[in-house]
Amino acid sequence: KDISIIGAPSDLGQGRRGVDMGPSAIRYAGIVERLRALDYDVEDLGDIKVDLAGKDQGGDGHLKNLKEVTATNTRLESSVADIISNKRFPLVLGGDHSIAIGTLAGVSRHYQNLGVIWYDAHGDLNTAETSPSGNIHGMPLAVSLGLGHPDLTNIGGQTAKIKPENVVIIGARALDDGEKELIREKGVRVYTMHDIDRNGMTSTIQDAMAYLSEKTDGVHLSLDLDGLDPQDAPGVGTPVNGGISYRETHLAMEMLAESDIITSAEFVEVNPILDDKNKTASVAVALVGSLFGEKLL
Ligand code: ARG
Ligand code: MN
Ligand code: MN
Ligand code: MN
Repeated sequence: KDISIIGAPSDLGQGRRGVDMGPSAIRYAGIVERLRALDYDVEDLGDIKVDLAGKDQGGDGHLKNLKEVTATNTRLESSVADIISNKRFPLVLGGDHSIAIGTLAGVSRHYQNLGVIWYDAHGDLNTAETSPSGNIHGMPLAVSLGLGHPDLTNIGGQTAKIKPENVVIIGARALDDGEKELIREKGVRVYTMHDIDRNGMTSTIQDAMAYLSEKTDGVHLSLDLDGLDPQDAPGVGTPVNGGISYRETHLAMEMLAESDIITSAEFVEVNPILDDKNKTASVAVALVGSLFGEKLL
């Protein structure tokens, strides 16, 4: 596997500044060195351009910074698609989670049945109609399913990039009412914190992998650091207590590495301004290490 890293320093998908520094923080925590130590060919392509916030902080039926978020994701879509055309593994660094719109648009160009593991406290399944905040980082999974503002769903061509039956959400504990409805209606598989507490991470990941691997031709991992407990990952904009531990998440990454099913990945929502001495970026880098096969012995 040859890996191409691309940063998407967006903070316009949500309300707290600072998450635009996520890619720098993750680089500072040593992501390139960590992967090179595992003998991968790693290239860092730098960051895609992100527009400055305009005056539009509301409008358009409640989609903040729609124009800028659309432009950012349009650029990201083509970079990610190019990386895969060059037979390399795209590893995207956020930025707020709205960048998954561009990542998934780019990745899905290369797959007929892309699977998605959405590791997150949230569902990110809102549309302008159901969103309590108007923040687009709460919408990327819905957009990728083809639901939402056409400017967003049309990025990279066809509307639906992924199928609901090819998606699993892991770590959910803060779902809005409209998201719950959509999950039931579309049949998205969700492993809530309750499920993880009850069955453990081993069986959760085994189940998720078995569910996805029969019917998909690639699996994208979209890891929102707020999926972890705020004690382990404090530097995030929308922390929710009662999350997945650092250890459980490591185990999850190691199991994904062992079965070698992940074909693209992104790590998002690291906000160094809210962090404790770059702890959350360091956690992200450690998780990337495990995802790419780092062993303890
Ligand atoms: N559900 C809430 C919203 O729509 C929070 C979303 C948080 N999303 C995230 N990627 N951290 O505003
Ligand atoms: Mn607008
Ligand atoms: Mn989240
Ligand atoms: Mn998210």
